[in-house]
Amino acid sequence: MASSSLSPTDLCTLRQSFPHLAQRVYLDTAAAGLTWAGHGAAVAFFYDQVKSRGYDARPEWFAMTQRVRARLAALLRVTPADLTMVSNTTEGLNLAAHSLRFRAGDQLVMAADEFPSVANIWAPALRDHAELVRVPVPQERGREDALLAAIDAQPRARMLVVSQVHSSTGTALDLDRLGRHCRSRGVLLAVDGMQALGAVDTDLSAVDVYASSFFKWMLSGFGVGVLVTSAAARARMEPAYRGYANQDDPKQLQYAHVNIPAMYGLDATLDFFEGIGWPRVHQRVRELGDHLVAEAGRRGLPLVTPPSARAGIFVVPCRDGEAARLALSQRDISVSARGQGVRISPHFYNSTEDVDRCLAALSELDL
Ligand SMILES: Cc1ncc(COP(=O)(O)O)c(C=O)c1O
Repeated sequence: MASSSLSPTDLCTLRQSFPHLAQRVYLDTAAAGLTWAGHGAAVAFFYDQVKSRGYDARPEWFAMTQRVRARLAALLRVTPADLTMVSNTTEGLNLAAHSLRFRAGDQLVMAADEFPSVANIWAPALRDHAELVRVPVPQERGREDALLAAIDAQPRARMLVVSQVHSSTGTALDLDRLGRHCRSRGVLLAVDGMQALGAVDTDLSAVDVYASSFFKWMLSGFGVGVLVTSAAARARMEPAYRGYANQDDPKQLQYAHVNIPAMYGLDATLDFFEGIGWPRVHQRVRELGDHLVAEAGRRGLPLVTPPSARAGIFVVPCRDGEAARLALSQRDISVSARGQGVRISPHFYNSTEDVDRCLAALSELDL
């Protein structure tokens, strides 16, 4: 890499927090990120508190939860009041879909090949006699333009729903461009951010509904996620669930307690990331991607992912993606079989040697 956000010494130290990297070329963060050494200790700390102090420790849990919410809001450029803590991306998107109100004839626009948690959640809108418009994406480079053109072509478009980074192709969308276009036409923008948060800088100023959990690029384990809603989106919502946490506020989506142990893990991992610095983390993901694109080109390996619109996911087409994944696994390299090939997803803890080993093995396999 020409310039590097992490010195070799920094990288070496950092990799020691991820013991699995000593045994395996782990290029599968798009499936699940490795948790760092301090994550489990933070979760265990919570359960030790419950053991020794029970509910008497509640003020500390509350303070920690508020702190995490404030840090997430700052990371996403929104306010803490815009956040609802949920269990995962799918729950967050469903909570929004079941809370939004649509009118007969309203159109919801999305790509035809969207992730199931984005595509399959709109039964409440269909019951309101809204219509789903599924947009074919003939080529990855034109994904964003195809979606914008579809909005312009639909007279009753009310919402655009997208994956910020597509899980099977790696294509990354420009949320600012989409959001500005949507706002100029009175269309809400809803985003699944699962394959982007932690890998790329994410500014939700122009987004109305957003959900992500934290077990991939945020390295924070399972069981906690966030739903973000804009004031414009909330004006069109009736919370689908009711409980003690929203009994006094008819517009509040948070209906019960959040996953407190998972929040402790997230809090510790936010410390870890902030210690490195988010700009360096994002730059490192970009640099590893630059390296992968250059190295794939040198080896004559094609990419489904457009180099000009990508985050941390790269898909190399193969005749049999699962056979390629298995063959790489036998060489101690972890990737996923996805879409038209194998999905390679380097995070900041990977080295250029990890990427080289994977691409060299793929070139030899001829699958
Ligand atoms: C784009 C996308 N959205 C959502 C999910 C699922 O997220 P969750 O388990 O948090 O619902 C995944 C992968 O697991 C994904 O790739």
